[in-house]
Amino acid sequence: MLNFSGGTPQVLHWGEELGDSADQLALASIEPTAHAELDAHQFHGIWRENARGNTARPALLGHRSGKDFSQKFDLIKVEQTKTSITAISQDRAAGLEVSIVFEFVGSGVLEIKQTVTNNGSEDFEVQALEVILPLPDKAAESLDFTGRWVKERQPQRRKIQSGLWVREVREGRSSHDYTIVQLAMTEGANYQTGDVWALGLGFSGNSRHTIEQAQSGRKFISAGELLLPGEVILGSGQTHLAPSVYAIYSNSGIDGVSDRSFSWLRARSQHPTSPRPLTLNVWEAVYFNHNLEKLEQLADVAKEIGVERFVLDDGWFGSRRSDNAGLGDWEVSKDVWPQGLSPLIKKVKDSGMQFGLWFEGEMVNSDSDLYRSHPDWILRSGDRVPLEGRRQLVLDLTNPEAYKFILESVDKILSEYEIDYIKWDHNRFLLEPASQGKPAVHKQTLAIYSLFSELKKRHPGLEIESCASGGGRIDLGMAQIVDRFWTSDCNDALERQYIQRYTQVAIPPEMLGSHIGPTQSHTTGRVHSLSFRAITALFGHAGLEWDITQTTAEEKKLLTSFSDYYKNNRALLHSGRLVRAETDESSFVHGVISNDGKQAIFAYATLSATSGSRPNAIFIPGLDASKTYKVRAVFPAGEPTFIQRTQVAWMDGVKLTGAALASVGLRAPILNPENAMLIEIKES
Ligand code: GLA
Repeated sequence: MLNFSGGTPQVLHWGEELGDSADQLALASIEPTAHAELDAHQFHGIWRENARGNTARPALLGHRSGKDFSQKFDLIKVEQTKTSITAISQDRAAGLEVSIVFEFVGSGVLEIKQTVTNNGSEDFEVQALEVILPLPDKAAESLDFTGRWVKERQPQRRKIQSGLWVREVREGRSSHDYTIVQLAMTEGANYQTGDVWALGLGFSGNSRHTIEQAQSGRKFISAGELLLPGEVILGSGQTHLAPSVYAIYSNSGIDGVSDRSFSWLRARSQHPTSPRPLTLNVWEAVYFNHNLEKLEQLADVAKEIGVERFVLDDGWFGSRRSDNAGLGDWEVSKDVWPQGLSPLIKKVKDSGMQFGLWFEGEMVNSDSDLYRSHPDWILRSGDRVPLEGRRQLVLDLTNPEAYKFILESVDKILSEYEIDYIKWDHNRFLLEPASQGKPAVHKQTLAIYSLFSELKKRHPGLEIESCASGGGRIDLGMAQIVDRFWTSDCNDALERQYIQRYTQVAIPPEMLGSHIGPTQSHTTGRVHSLSFRAITALFGHAGLEWDITQTTAEEKKLLTSFSDYYKNNRALLHSGRLVRAETDESSFVHGVISNDGKQAIFAYATLSATSGSRPNAIFIPGLDASKTYKVRAVFPAGEPTFIQRTQVAWMDGVKLTGAALASVGLRAPILNPENAMLIEIKES
């Protein structure tokens, strides 16, 4: 709820809907003035200007050659529709106008858009334009996510204390270490209970998320783009639109945030309505060793198992026989593919599968024809060539010629071949990201959005997966455009249990690629059973990434059975409500409940050995308390390994109410660590 009576937009309340009038709430909210502060009460509005008595960081930071650094914005106009409020304020002396739009974009998600316009005659540098929202006093803890390559989205929870808790990204992409959303919570809030206030940035470049407790004791949460020095300089009359920020409140714990985020993203006009095809990505099967015969064998086994989409990964173009060379030369390699990609695509299509292809269009290897002919097409500061990562540099897509070259090169391949889907990678972070001497992350990010939109326009139905060495570019900005994210380069089921669980705080499972990897993980060396790998992959957009030509007859049988199970249940898994039960650290219990509450599929996954000889019960929250359900264990990809003398009694079927499942639960069988089983629940 907003108040405008102080002459500036002020957030009075962010939480459950109230019937109160803003005037009365404002009256109740006026704070006393403490000693050693100002002489009179001031309304600290959304812009947090110094001139209104604020000593914390203002929402707009900027200056005009050192002048006009301190502004006081007076409200000049408020416009309201059924779902939005726009407030426009000006500082005439500073020659600046700011606007903020709060708009409910469905499912309880509030989109916040801010602009600043330079009405002065001289340039104004925008250093930051962030959304900073007050948190209620009862917000006591914060939760955000950190990570690295093959270990994205690890949770960190802390008590909110004096000062600033800042999560900054300066990689020029969202990063493996990106939080996606930052959460403030009441003390002890968990998956189902407690108040949660979540804020996330809709952008894929640099970012800054903070949680703050001021000297006054008041708390704030913020999100915004991190601008580099000189990145946004507004000439007279120019406007800067900051990336959207999304705010979600839940009174039903973290799952409540996920629920809202999922329904919002599912309502995107381009959200895939077709069932998410079971995918085979050949990366971990062949890496750069492209060979038609081998790939055809993979297609044969894929068909046998029931795979629906076959993806040819890196290595099909130019001199790309390893990651040292060839990026940028987007022509099918005659050495490896003498007849072009047609024979493979024909094989894949004749086998009834879709075909997908890998690109990494924003990048160039220094050893490539493209770089040799256009060394000036990279992002760089002055004449210094940035340090290389994976032997590659970043193309300057804000250069219209470079942009056109990439767009036309990719478009040509997409026009020549029947390609249903592209996996678009971004394998290095940006260093010294300048174009013509000026920082260019903001414009580079807009360029990739525009390139994706153009490719989709030219090739209706084309699906795009965002990948950046796994989960390095998963964010609420990219989520507006792409159809799938590659969640992580780690296909180890144990690591994936964590990575998927926390990526799914904001992103729905059907947008997160989740593959059954090889028996021995290529990124951790761990060995896991097929059933653990399959049950882990089930809770995402499932697929395989494994040399399935080497599988045994028994493994093929289990993969086929998994494939059938995924297809029979994906409508539920990709539309229902995700529920994460509270467990001790030795296990995870999570599942999806259909929107009508009539059925659910849960996983019980063991992560480590329990301290007691018998594990805690499996509690299943979120079902209709009064309905009776038939509950049983199912093993579509084989059984886990048990380490017990006798089995629990309910596995073949038990009838319990939703209330009993949530409060008494099911006695857990003793599984070895790093195992999983599925529990099917249907109204009886
Ligand atoms: C990145 C991706 C992988 C694969 C390779 C190809 O690491 O995350 O899935 O596509 O690039 O080089």
